[in-house]
Amino acid sequence: MNINLDKNTVETSVNTIKRIQNPTLEEFQAATNSFSQPVIITGKMAEWKAFKHWSIDYLSDAIGDKELDINISNKNKVFTFDTETGETLSSKKMKFSEFANWLAQEKDSEQYYYLQQQPIKLVFPELLPDIEIPDYMSRKSFMVANIWIGTGGNTTPLHWDAAQNILCQIRGRKKLSLFAPNQTEFLYPHSVDSKAPHLSYVNIDKPDVEKFPKYQDSQKIECVLEAGEMLFMPPFWWHHVNSLDPLNIAVNFWWKANLKQYFTPQGKTFMLKKPLIVLALLLQKANG
Ligand code: FUM
Ligand code: FE
Repeated sequence: MNINLDKNTVETSVNTIKRIQNPTLEEFQAATNSFSQPVIITGKMAEWKAFKHWSIDYLSDAIGDKELDINISNKNKVFTFDTETGETLSSKKMKFSEFANWLAQEKDSEQYYYLQQQPIKLVFPELLPDIEIPDYMSRKSFMVANIWIGTGGNTTPLHWDAAQNILCQIRGRKKLSLFAPNQTEFLYPHSVDSKAPHLSYVNIDKPDVEKFPKYQDSQKIECVLEAGEMLFMPPFWWHHVNSLDPLNIAVNFWWKANLKQYFTPQGKTFMLKKPLIVLALLLQKANG
């Protein structure tokens, strides 16, 4: 654990996340304090075809002709959202094979690409046999499995999701910065009435402490997720994700949050101000 109490610097406290080897459901429940704390699971993906075989060549053979929506950033490689529309800033239609060529190139461009959060069942059903839905959450609450492919330096900025999330790293590593829901008061969220209420105004890679002074009092938890590892993040946990390494491939799974998990600062704000949205999320049909 690396604790830095110097208030002149931004990182007041950095903790790490516990790793647990291929846990049983009971061990997972204990390690996450009943689905309320993050944990890294190792050894669970060893037999996945995705873990054994996915490379750019393998994926090009399987899905090379697919036309995809690839998100675009400028040189800063921050793939953020438009707070007016709630959508990612811009995207481009490209065949996977074209994207694969771009991934393999030396890069010094004005634009960077990230295949972000594409639902596998909808977009690449042929890849479904290559992955396994982790069995720690009920199949009845399972929602979606998404694929993420990009290059080092890509950043998904600080946000939370109203879902239980397991992020499975297949190639490359990701650095994750997490903040518990009780840190929300230090993180300057967008308004609950905006289209991106799950987003923070703070760029934690370069925080503007004049504008966001309370950020300095936040408590961050960091980890580097290695290929073959899975990170469980409970609903409403803030996360900021930096991709590392030239090729980065991940899959994440979402399960519905349960009512108890809405009792966080953001969840409570939503229940109070947007009860119909919360009701719709709680009642939505899962995909299991
Ligand atoms: O870039 C990312 O891997 C983001 C993942 C997430 O928001 O769950
Ligand atoms: Fe997320």
